[in-house]
Amino acid sequence: MPSSNTITLFFFLFFFPILSHSRLSLNFYDHSCPRFHQIIEDIVTSKQISSPTTAAATIRLFLHDCLLPNGCDASLLLSSTPFSPSERDNDINLSLPGDAFDLIVRAKTALELACPTTVSCSDILAVAARNLLVMLGGPHFPVFLGRRDGTVSTSSSVTNHLPKPTMPMTQIVDIFTRRGFTVEEFVALTGAHTVGLTHCSEIFQNRSVDNNVNEKYNDGYNPRFAEGLKKACGNYINDPTLSVFNDIMTPSKFDNVYFQNLPKGLGVLKSDHGLYSDNRTRPFVHKFGEDQDLFFKVFARSMQKLSLLGVKTGRRGEIRRRCDQVN
Ligand code: HEM
Repeated sequence: MPSSNTITLFFFLFFFPILSHSRLSLNFYDHSCPRFHQIIEDIVTSKQISSPTTAAATIRLFLHDCLLPNGCDASLLLSSTPFSPSERDNDINLSLPGDAFDLIVRAKTALELACPTTVSCSDILAVAARNLLVMLGGPHFPVFLGRRDGTVSTSSSVTNHLPKPTMPMTQIVDIFTRRGFTVEEFVALTGAHTVGLTHCSEIFQNRSVDNNVNEKYNDGYNPRFAEGLKKACGNYINDPTLSVFNDIMTPSKFDNVYFQNLPKGLGVLKSDHGLYSDNRTRPFVHKFGEDQDLFFKVFARSMQKLSLLGVKTGRRGEIRRRCDQVN
């Protein structure tokens, strides 16, 4: 016969994540920080106008923060300490553009002036990513609020939790399905590659462009497109900042054209081609390529799901005063 303590522990372990979510609400800051939405909207708009790469950068930052085991807790914004490198200093996160971090710092500074130690960095990141998605033409989704910020960030926790373009598709799919996403939701989320940039080093894997381009033909790249990438990236070893658009047709618009590019061999990353060559994911590439409304519907639902991963509420976590440091 299980003891009452065992039953309590069972209840706690299984239902705590659900209870955590249910403590979030859409109007969390209505009384404590009534100008919350307006302040974020003003900062996001001016930042995106002055630096148009901010939107895609922030969406990727949000993905990487939420997918890590400690969930959407802004732990990715924490700086390394002399004793331990943080998540943001892991190799995979070094390409996250400074503009995304800068945006959150600006919003946090404005919000600290208006409502000191009230609004979490994780809520700012979630709302900023959603607002920027909408600015690019993507779907709106309600962001539940009340997340608290994490106090732990270690580079070692990143390994195997974030997708890399060179991973086998089974490993990439697994990263998402073990966090509760269906294959359809994973494919929809990757539709975020309809915007933003990829550094040439991600395409050519720090190898010579000439040697690597033949491999691209085998990986399903359109030969003319592969030659175009070779030209655009030719000097990338000397100039590591060289980048190309993820969606060569409509690079700054959030639409379903990314999915139309894939069957034509116009994906930029090896993993983009993997979505089309894999039997599990290909049907969704076709569906989303044919039906933008469906893509938007599944994308919005999946972003909301992402925004709820591992959130801390109640007495867990803290409201950081600065997003790059614990209190
Ligand atoms: C198949 C799984 C995925 C892989 C392997 C992958 C990998 C990458 C890589 C290597 C880049 C280029 C980064 C750079 O060079 O700066 C990139 C860019 C990007 N990714 Fe993904 N990604 C995946 C899924 C996703 C998902 C699910 C989302 C969003 C929900 C996303 C959003 C983005 C965005 C918005 C960019 C552009 C970033 C920018 O312009 O700064 N990715 N991704």
